[in-house]
Amino acid sequence: MATNITFHPGSVSADERVNLLKQKGVTIWLTGLSASGKSTIACALEQHLLHLHKFSYRLDGDNIRFGLNKDLGFDEKSRNENIRRIGEVSKLFADSCCVAITAFISPYRVDRDFARQIHDQASLPFVEVFVDAPLSVVEQRDPKGLYKKARAGEIKDFTGISAPYEAPANPEIHINTAETDVTESVRIITEYLLAKGYIS
Ligand code: PPS
Repeated sequence: MATNITFHPGSVSADERVNLLKQKGVTIWLTGLSASGKSTIACALEQHLLHLHKFSYRLDGDNIRFGLNKDLGFDEKSRNENIRRIGEVSKLFADSCCVAITAFISPYRVDRDFARQIHDQASLPFVEVFVDAPLSVVEQRDPKGLYKKARAGEIKDFTGISAPYEAPANPEIHINTAETDVTESVRIITEYLLAKGYIS
């Protein structure tokens, strides 16, 4: 725990950044089981926003675990720390006027609520998107063969099999990817951002 530290607010205001960059920051927090479609939606959304001339940046669970979070595993404490860090990082991206798109299983409600809380405290919008597909469907998809390995006992603490997933109670957006394709998912999220005035 750091002590004797002082927060320096700086001389550039949030409004000045918004005026310069002509966009506001927001975090789009995608949560759901492995193979539910988080990364696919995140990639397509990032591309769609680029076409709308909006600067966005994707933070993806698998990718971040190659670098920033390479020291973390999949036990509960490690996942708590993984999501704590990404909550903070996405807040910094949103504060810089970026549309931050996070794609993490983020299975624990308390961790997602923490990410929301620090955004609220900084007056930055936080949009939780439940990327929902039943276990039977994601297990059928199994693009990386992980469910098969988890069922065979070769991966421990696997979300949905041997580790919990706490579904969001009140997400801003709920997408059932067993019934909704990627294009439609991107349309739903974009419409929400426009309606709320988070992008224009
Ligand atoms: S978490 O729960 O938010 O900390 O997980 P995350 O950082 O999003 O990483 C999930 C990806 O890691 C791979 N993987 C596992 N997932 C779940 N449980 C276990 N035990 C596990 N081991 C490895 C898997 O590829 C996940 O990617 P996605 O894109 O979700 O399928």
